Amino acid sequence: MTSRLRPGDGTIVTIERFILEQERDYPDATGTLTNVLYDMALAAKIISSHTTRAGLAQILGSTGEQNVQGEEVQKLDAFAERTIFRLNDHTGRLAVMASEEIDNPIPIPPQFATGKYVLVYDPLDGSSNIDYNVSVGTIFAIHRRKSAEGPGTLDDCLQPGRDLVAAGYIIYGSSTIMVYSTGQGVHGFTLDPHIGEFLLSHPDIRIPAKPKYYSANQGYERHWTEGVRRFTQDLQGDNEQKQALSLRYIGSLVADFHRNLLAGGIFYYPADSQDPRKPQGKLRLVYEAAPLAFLAEQAGGYASDGQRRILDIRPERLHQRVPLYIGSRSLVEKAEDYIRRYDAVPAAQ
Ligand code: AHG
Ligand code: MN
Ligand code: MN
Repeated sequence: MTSRLRPGDGTIVTIERFILEQERDYPDATGTLTNVLYDMALAAKIISSHTTRAGLAQILGSTGEQNVQGEEVQKLDAFAERTIFRLNDHTGRLAVMASEEIDNPIPIPPQFATGKYVLVYDPLDGSSNIDYNVSVGTIFAIHRRKSAEGPGTLDDCLQPGRDLVAAGYIIYGSSTIMVYSTGQGVHGFTLDPHIGEFLLSHPDIRIPAKPKYYSANQGYERHWTEGVRRFTQDLQGDNEQKQALSLRYIGSLVADFHRNLLAGGIFYYPADSQDPRKPQGKLRLVYEAAPLAFLAEQAGGYASDGQRRILDIRPERLHQRVPLYIGSRSLVEKAEDYIRRYDAVPAAQ
């Protein structure tokens, strides 16, 4: 079991060794999933090497194009997108890919074999922060294909998060950290740039029982429902224990999520009743909310759209947005309770 692998007692545990040890717990494993995770670790190293010197490598700023989200595509977005695609298009491990930056599922080029997994990803999360040297990240999720063989399908990409095989993220910040789960707990690895290896730094991450932070863009508070506003007041100390949490909001989902995963807290991006672009909030179900919800629950937390468990929501569209409440279970359930009490909206169908 990987639990014998511990950093700090002199053992050097690379992500490769850790993944391999985890694979050993599955005798019928073929090693394919292990290799997809290796490929994501390699993509992380390549993207990291460019984020740390984006200002020098002339890849700051935007490409002048717009993506399917109607957002300016940053050069680093495009670079991250291409890196992940090129590392995975020829391996024969994937049936299809899907990305935040691309309208439709991305087929495996016909000259390459298809495989049994599906990779969906947000190549660069927090793009609006790139030019200001604030942490950004990558989010990915891996499903088994549902289609029998040949080119994967849109349906392969629209599976509920509860069926995920693995999910993870990388943060390109003060250090580059890769966090993933294959359903056997959540584990974090820090990149040692001197040797180019991800080393085990956060084994068995569990969200602390006592939360410290809440993360929300209160610039939109006037657009929130009464239940969400009352929930926010509760987090600010308007509760029986007169307990207030500290507000931390970076504007990069991965960085905000990571802090709450380690310190305890909640991130939420509510539905926005005033902005026609985001009546269901801004975050995307398939490659943002679902993978992070998988990790949150593996770490003892929970994630909801305010009424339903994120992992139970079956996506209908690739870029479907959902309101997101994610982190310490007690806080997410408190949000659901306020929404149930004050925003008596018919349950989402
Ligand atoms: P992306 O850069 O992949 O489009 O994601 C940005 C998201 C997410 O990272 C963050 O939580 C959110 O946008 C911030 O939105 P606001 O600026 O509206 O707060
Ligand atoms: Mn994102
Ligand atoms: Mn993105």
